[in-house]
Amino acid sequence: QKGPYEHYMLKEIHEQPLTLRNTMAGRIDGGNRIVLPEIPLTEQELQRIEKMYIVACGTAYHAGLVGKFAIESLTRIPVEIDIASEFRYRDPIVSDNTLVIVVSQSGETADTIAALQESQRRGAKVLAVTNVAGSTIARQADYVLATKAGPEIAVASTKAYTAQLLAFELLALYFAQTLRTLDDETRSSLVDGIKQLPHQVEKLLANADEIKWFAESILDRRSVFFIGRGLDYAVALEASLKLKEISYIHSEAYAAGELKHGSLALVEEGTPVIALVTHQQLFEKTVSNIKEAKARGARVMGVTVDGNVELLDSVDEACFIPRTHQLFAPILAVVPMQLLSYYTSLALGNDIDKPRNLAKSVTVE
Ligand code: M6R
Repeated sequence: QKGPYEHYMLKEIHEQPLTLRNTMAGRIDGGNRIVLPEIPLTEQELQRIEKMYIVACGTAYHAGLVGKFAIESLTRIPVEIDIASEFRYRDPIVSDNTLVIVVSQSGETADTIAALQESQRRGAKVLAVTNVAGSTIARQADYVLATKAGPEIAVASTKAYTAQLLAFELLALYFAQTLRTLDDETRSSLVDGIKQLPHQVEKLLANADEIKWFAESILDRRSVFFIGRGLDYAVALEASLKLKEISYIHSEAYAAGELKHGSLALVEEGTPVIALVTHQQLFEKTVSNIKEAKARGARVMGVTVDGNVELLDSVDEACFIPRTHQLFAPILAVVPMQLLSYYTSLALGNDIDKPRNLAKSVTVE
């Protein structure tokens, strides 16, 4: 079943152009409008929603961070996000004017199920973004937005994550379309951007080998840091989780501007810092944080978009992703990060598809 791939994880990384195509299939009409009959919320019903919550665990939570950004920026509805194992213990402010979005690849994560049930108990409607039709979460939610990533075998989630990101982009556009918070022209150009994503991921995967050299240089390091601002910070969190999960190398993600508030003390000669710099408006700000790290001896790999060659002046190595709308950059930027963790783990001889201490589906609280 792994075909030409040595591991399911690599196979699943390479399936992403297809899983993105499948997740958008049938959900965009000829006029670039988003079609989601599975979420029959009317304009009036959406207008009643005062706040949304996104609740999930692990990688699904990281997808939710991007979802919050997308929904808030396109609809201006405030979105709170919480880790499912924290949510119900803090007496969350949820009522029948709240829409709770739970995200779960498996649809069986115990904490996420409990968050769903607690939300419904408090009168909220729950929308589930899940990859498994017929799962507990899919059955219990009021609305289900299915990701079409197909079965994900490797414990480290890859194709389900990018499908979740895409689902959030479609959802944010759908809400904006229903609420009319976005003009037709802007929506249409965003949808054109979405349609290009599978091909852009294909282009990134064609250069997969380029990331190997950086993987080799972090093998013997005690710690790796990922930094970014805005959406890049959300991707940094996911990149860091992926690396620690399968390589067992300690890593942390920091909002780049936070480095100097403490963590910079950990940077020494040769410390690998991976800087995500796809957010055009925040480019200069992140570059100045890169310089702070470099001045303490960090070895920096920058991830940015095609054309930003000036980044080469501030980093040791750079990796370029295709140009896209800012909201969609995480779907592209995460691909080299997935490959980085894969190749690092491969060189270390770890059990990539079944990392120690972890299960694919966490059914205990
Ligand atoms: O099935 P779920 O999406 O609810 O799982 C949530 C997390 O357990 C999962 O994303 C985990 O963090 C992954 N192993 C990360 O690669």
